[in-house]
Amino acid sequence: MRVVTSIAELLEARCARGEAATGFVPTMGALHDAHRSLLDRARRECAQLWASLFVNPAQFDDPGDLARYPRALEADLALLRASGTDLVFLPRAEALYADGYRYRVTETGLARRLEGASRPGHFDGVLTVVLKLLLLARPARAYFGEKDWQQLRLVEGLAQAFFLEVEIVPCALVRETDGLAMSSRNRLLSPAERAVAPALHRLLADSVRERRSPAEAAERLAQAGFGVDYVEDEDGRRLAAVRIGSVRLIDNVVTG
Ligand code: PAJ
Repeated sequence: MRVVTSIAELLEARCARGEAATGFVPTMGALHDAHRSLLDRARRECAQLWASLFVNPAQFDDPGDLARYPRALEADLALLRASGTDLVFLPRAEALYADGYRYRVTETGLARRLEGASRPGHFDGVLTVVLKLLLLARPARAYFGEKDWQQLRLVEGLAQAFFLEVEIVPCALVRETDGLAMSSRNRLLSPAERAVAPALHRLLADSVRERRSPAEAAERLAQAGFGVDYVEDEDGRRLAAVRIGSVRLIDNVVTG
């Protein structure tokens, strides 16, 4: 596995790879089995597997959240190697944002609602970094998880709006055996919080099965001890964001 830290080196690797169809999995690290499922799928579907590890400061509206975000470089590199990754890109923020983030991508509809309403500027940061990474890596396919439903939709829209020659591949949401959606943030939960966390998925799924409204689902989540940011139906999914202590969790279930 090639570990690439500079943009010049990445462009060189892109030249060297020639026509080989590349699958690309962008991540913020602290990798877990859900990341692994994206990597495995890209490995099966593409001649070359590239990934990136970059905790993108531009998408954190809260500096405390950025500082707390889990980092596990050695374990991440081991997981990437075990997944058959050919190249991993670890850019430096100063190189990726040489313009000081003066240039950025803004979506003015969906990006302002749901996650965007709770985290102002979040999707500007996501869309800007994804555009930069796609332009640098030039993959045939890029893999995004359905756990981050709104992010997936916005990245699909980005590719369309800017005529990017890449197929955005949606990947199924992966859960722990107790139902909790896998997330790098789960490792920030205390044992007591971790014990409560699976109720997010359980109550969300129950609310759909019992044909309860999003407002009723929000009420039950609040009763279970979550701070509820939103529960909304969108796009055939029931989407929710909650807080337990200082950790924010998102999840979604199919409503159709
Ligand atoms: P990160 O949270 O590291 O996630 C990287 C990819 O893994 C995303 O496409 C995300 O949707 C997917 N993923 C994470 N948990 C998942 C789960 N439980 N099931 C299915 N897929 C899951 O998302 C980001 O990083 C960043 O915003 C990024 C796109 C890299 C831009 O900085």
